[in-house]
Amino acid sequence: MTQNELTLVVGGTGKTGRRVAQRLTERGVPIRLAARSTEPRFDWDDESTWAPVLDGVTSIYLTYAPDAGFPGAAELIGAFARRAVDAGARRIVLLTGRGEAGAERSEAAVAATGADLTILRASFFAQNFSEDMLIDQVLAGQVAFPADQVREPFVDLDDLADVAVATLTEPGHIGRTYDVTGPELLTFAEAVAEIAAATGKDIHYHPISGQEMQAGLTEAGLPADFAARLVELFAEVLDGRNATLGDGVHQVLNRTPRTFSTFAKTTFTP
Ligand SMILES: NC(=O)c1ccc[n+]([C@@H]2O[C@H](COP(=O)([O-])OP(=O)(O)OC[C@H]3O[C@@H](n4cnc5c(N)ncnc54)[C@H](OP(=O)(O)O)[C@@H]3O)[C@@H](O)[C@H]2O)c1
Repeated sequence: MTQNELTLVVGGTGKTGRRVAQRLTERGVPIRLAARSTEPRFDWDDESTWAPVLDGVTSIYLTYAPDAGFPGAAELIGAFARRAVDAGARRIVLLTGRGEAGAERSEAAVAATGADLTILRASFFAQNFSEDMLIDQVLAGQVAFPADQVREPFVDLDDLADVAVATLTEPGHIGRTYDVTGPELLTFAEAVAEIAAATGKDIHYHPISGQEMQAGLTEAGLPADFAARLVELFAEVLDGRNATLGDGVHQVLNRTPRTFSTFAKTTFTP
């Protein structure tokens, strides 16, 4: 590391970003966080906020909210990456989701900038059950989601953050794409059963249709368009195409990923 390096963690207050930021800080890597709640403020939807966060940046951990596969994401991510490269950043580690056509467009848009790029294609996050959209349902003891028999290799975000930090700070990862998943395939019902066992409480899982989820999200106040996009995304990634294990954790860290059971025990055991 040279003296003038600065790593921008885009989405640095989010589930993956804050883990990446913590690890980089522990390694002594200078960082700046970028989100709507940081100073300087960064907003994907307000291009006037882009230049201040990019000032002096040499490397970027790049996430997009709500999802790199959403309509319009590729254009914004590509434009931001272009600005970053023009401003002097060389290294980009981009987080996307596995099996998403929209995310592949985002990957191509960043690759087109000529940056020294590494792509992390992640599976469904284990922490969606503990820190995000499913936590309220877990706490209420009833989890409903549009996934029935499909099996998913849920990834623990501590593994994903370890992979991101290794690829950002160690040589040998430029031009690589890693499939970052957990070590086993589980149905959503099996995952919820692991969480129930860890908590010692009854937590039931009910598969629902995409339409039911969409109706629930709009009733809860989400814009209809956003709810529809989200449900389409889940239908795409949970149609069986991602029911395989990826070896990104092993390739980058030379170790096995954490099991869902370990995630559940460390996260939910009282
Ligand atoms: N969830 C999954 O299972 C899954 C699976 C595979 C890949 N992914 C990828 O994970 C990425 C999301 O990462 P994450 O889960 O770590 O994020 P997250 O927990 O959803 O947090 C979102 C981050 O982005 C910021 N943010 C939200 N809206 C913003 C806006 N309009 N402008 C600027 N910043 C904004 C948030 O902070 P503020 O609210 O303060 O702005 C926060 O720092 C996506 O690219 C998605 O493709 C997710």
